[in-house]
Amino acid sequence: MGAMAKLAHRVIVTHQLPEEWIADLHENCNVLVGPPTSEVAGLSAELQRHLPSADGLLTLLTVKVDAKLLNKAANLRVVSQMAVGVDNIDLNACTQRGIPVGHTPGVLTDATADLAMLLLLATARRLLETNRDAREGRWGTWQPERWLGADLAGKTLGIVGMGAIGQATARRAKAFGMNIVYTNRSSKPDAAREFDATRLRLDELLTVSDFVSLHTPLSAETRHLIDAAALAQMKPTAILINTARGPVVDTDALVAALRAGQIRAAGLDVTDPEPLPPNHALWSLDNCVIAPHIGSATENTRRKMAQLAVTNLLAGLRGERLPHCANPTVYEK
Ligand code: GLV
Repeated sequence: MGAMAKLAHRVIVTHQLPEEWIADLHENCNVLVGPPTSEVAGLSAELQRHLPSADGLLTLLTVKVDAKLLNKAANLRVVSQMAVGVDNIDLNACTQRGIPVGHTPGVLTDATADLAMLLLLATARRLLETNRDAREGRWGTWQPERWLGADLAGKTLGIVGMGAIGQATARRAKAFGMNIVYTNRSSKPDAAREFDATRLRLDELLTVSDFVSLHTPLSAETRHLIDAAALAQMKPTAILINTARGPVVDTDALVAALRAGQIRAAGLDVTDPEPLPPNHALWSLDNCVIAPHIGSATENTRRKMAQLAVTNLLAGLRGERLPHCANPTVYEK
């Protein structure tokens, strides 16, 4: 872009990000950056005052981008989220206003699948619980019957949502000798072939799986997909992994199921609510391993996500099609 374009576009970045991640944005636009994420979760009061003159918005998943916000942003031409999930954004409200919404699929697939495997292994082998026992003086001696966990090899992993991250998780699980079954809105013949995986109904998957890993976006259909009834269908030895979105699981039902031993354990990178308050019941359960929404948190991945968010944003400001658009119907006019 030439000098003419510089400063022509006014862009709001909802929170501070490392400068070098968004260097292209500073080079091409008049950028207003919000406070550190540690100070404000949503859009700061000051940035709200600047919404009317903003052409572009680079946002995080902690900001609710709804009709109320959009109504204050009459000039907004593009919203770009630094995440793959866009459940914090009212896509219909954006589409109605002709605003494309960018997101960052692909670059975080491997990191998130790694985290799913980490939780799967940590829950199966009781890593946190045994580490705590040992560091708090309860190691004792090597005992054949103590701290026994679950095998992965030969066990069945049920993937709920066979998109890119579901497939990357299945690929890893195959390398551990697991069998794969899956649910998905549409059948995934390529994935079925690669993983020798059968597509099942959710109730069938829950019944046969030793591990269930969630990889669906959060939507009206997937909110509380794993509720008390679903948990009751799982094997008492089964382990639930959630690296998708907290509200895909009914948290109260999960607490009850973990307490009652209705399932063996849960590994969660996402919770409902987020952050999970320090006094929440889930923290008190030895059979629950919790990570604070770090699925994509590697240096490389987060940098790539920011850069992709900038690429989407700049495309939108130029009136070009976003390389990764979460509401492609906005272009059907
Ligand atoms: C993170 O949760 C993302 O959606 O990218």
